Amino acid sequence: MINIHDIPELQRWVAHEKSQGKSIAFVPTMGNLHAGHMSLVDHARKIADIVVCSIFVNPTQFGENEDLDAYPRTLQDDMDKLENHGCDLLFLPNAQDMYPQPDLTRVIVDHMSTLHCGATRPGHFNGVTTVVLKLLNLMLPDFAIFGLKDFQQFTILKTMVLDLFIPTQMIGVETGRASNGLAHSSRNGYLTKQELKQAPALYRILQETKTGIESAERASHELIREAKEKLVAEGLTPDYFAICRQIDLEPATELDTELVILAAAYLGKARLIDNLHFHLNK
Ligand code: PAJ
Repeated sequence: MINIHDIPELQRWVAHEKSQGKSIAFVPTMGNLHAGHMSLVDHARKIADIVVCSIFVNPTQFGENEDLDAYPRTLQDDMDKLENHGCDLLFLPNAQDMYPQPDLTRVIVDHMSTLHCGATRPGHFNGVTTVVLKLLNLMLPDFAIFGLKDFQQFTILKTMVLDLFIPTQMIGVETGRASNGLAHSSRNGYLTKQELKQAPALYRILQETKTGIESAERASHELIREAKEKLVAEGLTPDYFAICRQIDLEPATELDTELVILAAAYLGKARLIDNLHFHLNK
């Protein structure tokens, strides 16, 4: 695996590979890699000639009250994992190069970025869309691979790529989970032993809500209230819990069949997010 820090060097490498007719699959990350991330790399390995990953803890997606410096950094371990999973190139830019001063440009997918996680983390998704567009413009990948664990992030990024005619195919990979259902996440590292036992309740409650929707016996607002009550009973503090349509993440109506239940909840020092997306047979 080649490591590149320098932007012009990356661009030369990409141009060379493309001139050889190679297809590129790109997996952007912020490092502290776990099994969920590695499933994206494995998917990339299957569909393209070249697998490119990036590790960049992107400052513009952290709020003022969020601790960018405390984000876990495990570079050597990450590099070993990427090497073992067949990554060809790891891009490790620094913040000065990614955001040349005076840094005036932002890419914003309006409205959708202010819902759900965006309501709790104002400006977060504007940082995500800005950095991902920069990275796509550098890598010029045929495929870009993201986790459906961050369903809202993926939906916003797909919208950006569509609206801006970016010639990259966006691929969402199913959420990697532990056998107890807990989604793999860097944030699980903040959980105590006791909290690790409580955390799987989030996914279980999402599944129970899906069953409730399918049975069509109760209205959405009742299912949402029940789900929040269950979270509290399990010792989690709900941030949001929403039954939405997948296309624009607005509340689902009677007519919608492509649904996603989106949830975030606080547990100890962590804010856990998870979701369940499914087709509703009517
Ligand atoms: P990060 O949190 O490092 O996640 C990198 C990618 O891994 C994202 O696409 C995320 O959805 C995916 N991922 C995380 N946990 C997963 C799991 N359990 N199963 C499957 N995929 C999972 O998301 C970001 O970084 C950043 O916002 C980024 C897109 C890199 C822009 O800075």
